[in-house]
Amino acid sequence: MTGKYTYREIDESTVYSELEDVFILSPQRLRDICKVFVKEMEKGLENDDCTLKMIPSFVTNRPTGKEVGTYLALDLGGTNFRVCEINLEGQSKVRLRAKKFTIPDSAKTADQSVLFDFLAESIAIFIKEYNINTEKDINLGFTFSFPVQQTALNKGTILLWNKGFNCANSIGKDVVTLLSEALTRKQLKVNVVALVNDTVGTLMSHAYVDPGTCVGVILGTGTNAAYVESAEAIPKWKGGPIKSNEMIINSEWGAFDNERKVLPWNKYDQQQDEQSTNPGKQTYEKMISGMYLGEIVRLVCKDLIERKILFGGMSSTEMDTPGKFETAYMSRIERDHTAELTDTKMVLQEILKIPYVAPRDRRIVRRICELVAIRAARLAACGVAAVVTKMNRVDTGCTVAIDGSVYEHYPHFDNRMRDALHELFGMFSENVSLQLGKDGSGIGAAVIAALADK
Ligand code: BGC
Repeated sequence: MTGKYTYREIDESTVYSELEDVFILSPQRLRDICKVFVKEMEKGLENDDCTLKMIPSFVTNRPTGKEVGTYLALDLGGTNFRVCEINLEGQSKVRLRAKKFTIPDSAKTADQSVLFDFLAESIAIFIKEYNINTEKDINLGFTFSFPVQQTALNKGTILLWNKGFNCANSIGKDVVTLLSEALTRKQLKVNVVALVNDTVGTLMSHAYVDPGTCVGVILGTGTNAAYVESAEAIPKWKGGPIKSNEMIINSEWGAFDNERKVLPWNKYDQQQDEQSTNPGKQTYEKMISGMYLGEIVRLVCKDLIERKILFGGMSSTEMDTPGKFETAYMSRIERDHTAELTDTKMVLQEILKIPYVAPRDRRIVRRICELVAIRAARLAACGVAAVVTKMNRVDTGCTVAIDGSVYEHYPHFDNRMRDALHELFGMFSENVSLQLGKDGSGIGAAVIAALADK
């Protein structure tokens, strides 16, 4: 301890056990969550106005891997926006050319026309840069990863925004119409043939290579899952007989437990929710996904700083600013295996500008990151377990395709999910195969467009 830095006389292990009490989930808690989850899914399949929206995607067939054709795909809903050209070559082979665009923050919260004009402009740039032939009609699959009430394969009204987006004049409007109008304003001749949630896209693109895929999950900026449901289990479906007898359901599981009945919601979750653009909504998502995890860590750190348990009570403007502790820093800290936690020190001192970071501070911050991320992975596993239980696939097994930055890049996320699945299903957890489904959402939109062409 030096000069002006004062630490409260509190033992490191006492700090850990206080944090563990707040963040650790027992196996029994996992089972309770999973049980409520299955019930909520059933409710959502019966009625429209439930917490879990359980939206029929109008995708009723899975691919065979033989589908062919060239399509454009748009992928909007994570941190980046992508335009892709996708070539389905049959034999489960795909070629992809893609360009990422950064969405200006101003377009995320302005009138919808600003966002949709930006999308159309990006398509125009892509078509020019990649020399796309515009003589023939271009068919496009639009992956739009926000809650949408789908009314046809290429129609759906926006229910609400999340993940930092909140565009005026858009709720209740058809997404495809908004995009088509912006394309017309740019004089671009592109047909939007499918409107797809990224989870549905992930499921479909993985099924193009592995027909045993029944679930698509996103664990990225936001979180959600889609799965294959049998027609008779969807009492609210009024769209007539389904030939294949199955329908892919977009669960919109991010809203799970908005009533806060079963999730281990704590004071940090509460603070994070209050300062978000959508308070009271997306409860489960706010405990799991990349947009929020870093912020939870920041709020815990702030609390410990105020109580003079961390950094001798010294904060910084960065540490005091919402959103400045990125989830990517948590990954970096968890990857730091140096004896002195040197990289953790770098993140805290050089990026977050904390004046003095003692070795004990580094260990505490690292433990906070671990606890927040372990809780996220275990909660995500509850969702997967609930979906697999709902499909009656615990015995027979299935492939779960998962995409998103948290699943792909966060260290140990996958293993932590598997551990929780093992606690829930015992040896049957081996039947649930978690697979990375990279680039799924864009490719999936093309696969769906190809199926629509048939
Ligand atoms: C959206 C979902 C989406 C998920 C993952 C959530 O915030 O509501 O539609 O699938 O994020 O991108």
